[in-house]
Amino acid sequence: MGPAWGSLVSFDVQRIRQDFPILSQPQHGKPLVFLDSGASAQKPRAVIEAMTRCMETAYANVHRGAYRLSEVATDSYEAARGAVARFINAPDAREVVFTRNSTEAINLVAHSWGRGVMRPDQAVLISELEHHANIVPWQMLRDDRGNPLRICRVTDSGELDMEDLAAKLADGKVGLVALAHMSNVLGTVTPVERVVALAHAHGAKVLLDGSQAVVHRRVDVAAIGCDFYCFTGHKLYGPTGIGVLWGKLEHLDRMPPFLGGGDMIESVALEKSTWAKPPARFEAGTPAIIEAVGLHAAIDYVIAIGMSAIEAHERALVDHAMRRLSDVPGLTLLGRAQDRGGVFAFSLDNAHPHDLSTLLDRAGICIRAGRHCAEPLHTRFGVEQGTARASFGLYTTPEEVDYLAGALVKAREFFA
Ligand code: ALA
Repeated sequence: MGPAWGSLVSFDVQRIRQDFPILSQPQHGKPLVFLDSGASAQKPRAVIEAMTRCMETAYANVHRGAYRLSEVATDSYEAARGAVARFINAPDAREVVFTRNSTEAINLVAHSWGRGVMRPDQAVLISELEHHANIVPWQMLRDDRGNPLRICRVTDSGELDMEDLAAKLADGKVGLVALAHMSNVLGTVTPVERVVALAHAHGAKVLLDGSQAVVHRRVDVAAIGCDFYCFTGHKLYGPTGIGVLWGKLEHLDRMPPFLGGGDMIESVALEKSTWAKPPARFEAGTPAIIEAVGLHAAIDYVIAIGMSAIEAHERALVDHAMRRLSDVPGLTLLGRAQDRGGVFAFSLDNAHPHDLSTLLDRAGICIRAGRHCAEPLHTRFGVEQGTARASFGLYTTPEEVDYLAGALVKAREFFA
């Protein structure tokens, strides 16, 4: 384990909770039980203070000014890129492109790789469990350029059907496999090393959406061997408005720009312009400078705790939640994957998930209700009205899981 991952320190969740100011704010007169970190995580003081400090003492536009303050801001922005590279074990910081979020990162690949490098006869292979952000850009590519879209099935336990994946790669006509590393609904973790080996053996590149996974476990893009990996800052205890696309430099070098404007050019004449090298080629306009500083602080924060410690805490929480939620009468869990993270989507008898969420809110519990930007997955499991979803962060405690289970038992009696 490299030093960037931090050491396996003892994990004191109560001490960690004190780092998050919002967690001490009551909701409806009750302690806040925040179980919607899969949608967006709360922010530690280290992130809030780093962003404030940047604005108070070290802010100017980047890559543009020949004055000290601009150089300081540029150094901070580029230091954030370096921190991201080390965090995911990317061989080269030039492979890290800052985007607004994962959605923009996937759209960037669909636009630049999809339209600029892939041939229109090459298919894109996704799965039934994808977030809309990893479905819609490929439908748009198909409708625009004709690239066929293939869908890998998901088993009843909510895992990727590896036989179906192999069958859909077999003819060698898939150019890109685009999958979630961890499902935002089922918590299922995709066996990414196996997927990459299979895809590469059939001539396909691999893009992984790590929005959920990167929060919960150590991600090493070099070890995974994928071609592109993306994640978003706001689920990783950082700010909104910043995300990451990592891509192998040899791929980024071949890709045309996604957006045009300042900072992404080498030269501009009124007749024609030429493009900067990656990553600048993909960062048109003034970037999210303060947010990059915040993301850097968030990465430093989780590394200081230790990704292994975070993962161990979550494994224990997942086991506890499986037991406690299984004891709630009338509760049906969506998916029971062997390898899973702290995301649980469920139905409670016939209670509408929105009603359930509203009722739990009165008890101070925040969960997400609906189809969680994964409508096809809900259709696959026959739950058209959606599900309720509890998702954990590093500050989630077993007591909160117990409180949720108790509140669900009461909610069931209320709806009956
Ligand atoms: N993708 C986020 C979620 O799953 C918003 O809730």
